[in-house]
Amino acid sequence: MSDVMPAAGLDHRAGPLDAVPRGEGRVFAVGGQRLAVFRTHADGVFATQERCPHLGGPLADGLMDNGAVICPLHDRTYDLRSGDGLNTECRVQTYPARVGPDGVIVVTLGTE
Ligand code: FES
Repeated sequence: MSDVMPAAGLDHRAGPLDAVPRGEGRVFAVGGQRLAVFRTHADGVFATQERCPHLGGPLADGLMDNGAVICPLHDRTYDLRSGDGLNTECRVQTYPARVGPDGVIVVTLGTE
């Protein structure tokens, strides 16, 4: 058993949940970087790097379905929880995200 504790991330307020339509993504500046933040139809939220690792497609403009986002440029699909590519060797960085009690999306950076 290790006595090394995992590094705790820092919470950053991204923006209001209402700024992201259900089933879509939007870009927010979070902790000095731009992230794609997605809102499910059940008001769950996910955060990933802004750009697709293939050729830089804008992930926040992609179709979101069933916990995954499809890059609008060449249809590479990424799991929004794990960041794994579902039809590609590429993967995206994901960040823990939640909605705070005041309706603001909170993203935790520094755990990756
Ligand atoms: S840039 Fe995203 S799939 Fe090509």
